[in-house]
Amino acid sequence: MHRFGERRPGRPGPAGADRTRVPSRRRTLGGAALAAAAGGLARCGPLSGRAAAQRVLQGTPPGGGDQMERASGAADGAPAGPDQQEAAPGLKELAAPLGIWIGAAVTVAPLAGEPAYGEAVRRECSVVTPENEMKWGPIHPGRDRYDFARADAIVDFARAAGIAVHGHTLVWHNQNPAWLTTGAVAPGELEGLLREHIAAVVGRYAGRVAAWDVVNEALADDGTLRASLWAQRLGPGYLAAAYRAAHEADPQARLLYNDYGAEGLTRKGDAQYRLLAGLLAQGVPLHGVGFQVHVTAAGVPAEPLARNLERLAALGLELYVTEMDVRLPTPPSDEALAAQAAVYRSVLDVCLAQPACKGFQTWGIADRHSWIPGRYPGFGAALPLDERYAPKPAHRALGEALARAAAGRQSGSMLPSRRCG
Ligand code: G3I
Repeated sequence: MHRFGERRPGRPGPAGADRTRVPSRRRTLGGAALAAAAGGLARCGPLSGRAAAQRVLQGTPPGGGDQMERASGAADGAPAGPDQQEAAPGLKELAAPLGIWIGAAVTVAPLAGEPAYGEAVRRECSVVTPENEMKWGPIHPGRDRYDFARADAIVDFARAAGIAVHGHTLVWHNQNPAWLTTGAVAPGELEGLLREHIAAVVGRYAGRVAAWDVVNEALADDGTLRASLWAQRLGPGYLAAAYRAAHEADPQARLLYNDYGAEGLTRKGDAQYRLLAGLLAQGVPLHGVGFQVHVTAAGVPAEPLARNLERLAALGLELYVTEMDVRLPTPPSDEALAAQAAVYRSVLDVCLAQPACKGFQTWGIADRHSWIPGRYPGFGAALPLDERYAPKPAHRALGEALARAAAGRQSGSMLPSRRCG
């Protein structure tokens, strides 16, 4: 009798780890590699990544430092003018020489309706995640009805802009449609529905979505398995079954486990480590882990984060910061904005120092469209770009971290010590 989630006999094991469309972190950016990268970037526009990096390190954005402040301080609410946006090189350009994904969650309405939004995404992102459009509720609203229109729009936008897509999410306890959660599904049916849904969604975007958050937030805050619809009805085996179904539908896609509050060596961090080690021991096609990093200006302790990344990297897992935002009491003071910048920089520095860290994403591209004010009244201003898409101190801090890492790798001075064989 096949036990739910157990591999069916004869099915191949997980794919070879390095079949990825996720950028491969360059080990040492020898002169030639960087020149090639810079050369490549040169084709992207006047400011190659290296030139942009050097300008950032000189602390003088091409148009002179104060523009940055002026850009982010303006109050009139209208998107920042072209000259302000020109001042700050996009994070995409600065990250390119490092071979790491940089990006944000995006949503279809402003992508379709706000030119400044699309411009910011094209300038800042080498990867995007649909904020809601690929979740069960929005994409599978009726038992026999899928609605791919909004997800397609984001995928088409990204492909036209040469941006990778990180799919989110195939199995979660939230945003599930009523037809799935209100008892209309007979006990024995749920497993089949889960496989069918994953096959339909992953299959549709095979070759167009590079990575998937297959299972999202399966752990409760105390580290136990969350008593979700899936765990209650299918038992803990639902995770393995979900990864196998996703791998079957697109053997090329990187398959991630994604969660929050598991960034450090905490009870939940340890439970996540055990959960993932257990899945790998079963031969489940799991390739990486996503850290959401939804925090306040109190930030994330860097050393425990670095050690947590290290032990997960030692399992052979790729690591991603998937949904970072740093919420502030609004309106934010200059001190709060400076503290926010330090938090962003600290997390990115830890990621850049860990070769297994493949991507850094924020949950939203700009304060103008962020889930924070709705969820945390009195808070907001959580992202590197402000209401007018102008760069904030956080954007500058991220740019400097990227530029410094690129320059360091270039000079060989900042080679991370933890390079594994
Ligand atoms: O689409 C409906 C719309 O038709 C309706 O008129 C409107 C009013 O109720 O609701 C709209 O749905 C909202 C949806 O966002 C789209 O805007 C839902 O109510 C709202 O709950 C949903 O919030 C999303 C939230 O996940 C749901 O839990 C946030 O935008 C989204 O940022 C947030 O993202 C999650 C990640 O997926 C997982 N990690 C945490 C992160 C933040 O909670």
